[in-house]
Amino acid sequence: MRAIILLVFAASLTMASFNASAASKARLDHADTDIMDTVSLQNGAKLFMNYCSGCHAISFMRYNRIGKDLGLSDDLVKKNLMFAGNKTGEAITTSMPEDAAASWFGGVPPDLSLVARSKGTDWIYTYLRSFYDDESRAFGVNNTVLVNASMPDALWSLREAQSEAEFDNSVRDITNFLDYVGEPAKLIRLRLGKWVLLFLGVLFVLTYLLKKEYWKDVKYGIWRSRD
Ligand code: HEC
Repeated sequence: MRAIILLVFAASLTMASFNASAASKARLDHADTDIMDTVSLQNGAKLFMNYCSGCHAISFMRYNRIGKDLGLSDDLVKKNLMFAGNKTGEAITTSMPEDAAASWFGGVPPDLSLVARSKGTDWIYTYLRSFYDDESRAFGVNNTVLVNASMPDALWSLREAQSEAEFDNSVRDITNFLDYVGEPAKLIRLRLGKWVLLFLGVLFVLTYLLKKEYWKDVKYGIWRSRD
């Protein structure tokens, strides 16, 4: 038994080191996002629709689901998040034609529905803050996290308009929003989780008392049939 446990432990250690070496070499900053922070999610949604949705779809998400989860009325969703004349029940696609995008950027901008799940929030947060001038690239910028990225620095105007701390916060909100989009049920899961733990706690006390009652006689060797 002990040998098996040691084997599993050794295998998980090797897997962990493989994972680490597969990741990008750039040092990632901690995104420090909080998916329960609704104000941050609302701001992130707004920034995403303004600065990213022109190229990127989040086609697993619908406008009205965002409205429901982030406490925004249909009118607010229409005013702040929808720029095309779609209906609120529609999935969030992009109007960018794929073949044109391929020739403009050398690749179709990927759908970002699950990007926070595949790359992680730290990666997105650092990536969006790591563009630097590089005249040899088509858009005049390169990126330290995704080397030779074909994405332009979509947030440059925001960076110029804000202080460094404000800009970091904006990027944090966008990252938070993408984290939420990757698993919208997380909001319910985290809220429900507390109640489930509380229930299990109460159940534990009751079952423990019941167990004590059952074992009382057995333990002290005074078991006898009740006839
Ligand atoms: C002008 C079009 C355009 C805009 C605007 C844009 N992107 Fe991109 N984005 C791209 C392209 C093209 C790629 C593919 C880059 C590559 O693989 O070289 C990309 C890649 C990415 C990736 C990496 C995805 C992956 O799995 O590799 C992330 C994350 C991302 N974009 C986030 C954003 C966010 C957040 C915004 C808004 C702040 C944004 N993008 C705005 C075109 C755009």
